[in-house]
This record gives sequence, structure tokens and C-alpha cells, in this order.
Amino acid sequence: MKTSHDESRVVALVPAAGQGVRLGESMPKAFVPVGGSPMLTVAVDGLIASGVVDRIVIMVPAEWRAQAEALVHVNSRVPISVVTGGSERTDSVRAGLAAAPEATHVLVHDAARALTPPSLIARVVAELRAGSRAVVPGVPVADTIKSVDSDGEVTGTPDRSVLRAVQTPQGFRAQLLREAYAHDVPATDDAGLVERLGVRVRVIPGDPLAFKITTPLDLRLANALLAERELSELSQAVRP
Ligand code: C5P
Repeated sequence: MKTSHDESRVVALVPAAGQGVRLGESMPKAFVPVGGSPMLTVAVDGLIASGVVDRIVIMVPAEWRAQAEALVHVNSRVPISVVTGGSERTDSVRAGLAAAPEATHVLVHDAARALTPPSLIARVVAELRAGSRAVVPGVPVADTIKSVDSDGEVTGTPDRSVLRAVQTPQGFRAQLLREAYAHDVPATDDAGLVERLGVRVRVIPGDPLAFKITTPLDLRLANALLAERELSELSQAVRP
């Protein structure tokens, strides 16, 4: 929780500029509806509901900026900026970082993890406030993971008990993430760039609901979960 003397500024960067080829829809993934609203809106609502974010910067494809602004500016309690993303996820995050010079702490949160519970977002920020420089949520992996070579031959079977599937939001001291992004190397998550600097990254327990909506099956799951949630809210509202 903040005090009146707290100078910290937590800015959430939301990469939403991916095309979402694996989802097979006709629009960029972040604009595909889930539970009746665009994924991006649902993800941003979660960030606002967490109560721990001072500002939100969203990175979208250039031609979708006007739509994104219209979607997220309606009655937002938290200031929101929309900027143009890039061709790789790292390019999008770099654009978001440049638009958040005031940040002392940064959360990077995929629009595609729209169902992430606000409580998980708050736990990541609490861990940053407790002194961690880099924090990622992670869940144990259910499947055994194998590495394979280009011929499809197995080259290794890492011990499953030490593996975690990492999620977002990933939280960082802002200066650390800026340093990590000063080098132009490809990465599928932000913590990976920070690890290259030799900085320790803390993993906290993630949440199955923070899954990334990637395939049509994920989208069905997300829709089913939101429909269930709406039903239970409705039944609570009509209960005497
Ligand atoms: O492609 P992937 O599923 O890893 O994308 C994760 C998140 O990063 C999505 O929310 C997607 O919109 C975003 N992204 C982006 N810019 C890109 C590629 C992906 O903002 N060039």
C-alpha cells in the first residue's frame, strides 16, 4: 500500500501488438472478444482492479490505435496511454518503456493473459515493494518437457520438478528493465533479458487463470470461464 510520502510510480506496460496468428482470427489477438469484450479491455480492467497501478501504457499495431483509445479511455480511474508497438514483442515493450519515463517500477503484462486475477497483480507489486528487483509468477509444469534437435531427436529431459511455466505480469525496478532493454537481443519474456545481466529473478506462485490465450482452445476456455463467472454474479445479485 502507498503512503502519502511514497514517490514510487508503478506503470503497467501492456503488449497488445501481436497479430495472433495461432489464434486464427481476422483481427489482432488483443482485439478478439472474450466474454463479449476485447481481450485488451478485460486485461486492462484486471490491472485497474488490482489497485496497485498508477498508469497504464498499451502498445498496439499502428492502425489499431484509434480503436484502442476508444476502448480503454471510457471512465478509466487510471490514466491510460496508447502507443504503437513493434514487429517483435521486445520492440513493443521497448516502445512502452520509452513512454513511461516516470516509472520507478514497471509491470509488463500480456493483453493475452486477460483473465489474470487482480490479486496476482497485487502480489507481484508487493514483492517489488518488499525489495525484489525482478519478479515473475510461475506455475509447475504438468507435462514432461523434452528438448529436441532439428531432426526431432530428443536431446534432453530436464527434471520437471525444477521447471516453472512463467506468466505475466512480470515486475521490475524500472531502471533495471531499461538497462536490460538497452541491448537488442531477442527474448520471449522480459525476465530473460534481465537474467542476461546476471540479476537474480524471483519466481512467486502464479495462477492457472493467468494462462495466455493463444489457440482457439484457449479462447473457448476463457469464454467458458467468463460465462460461468457472469452466471455466478447474476445468481448472487438475485439472491434475497
Ligand atoms: O506472441 P505472444 O503470444 O508471445 O504474445 C504475447 C503478448 O505480446 C500478446 O499480448 C501480444 O499482443 C504481444 N505482442 C506485442 N508485439 C508483438 C508481438 C506480440 O505486443 N510484436
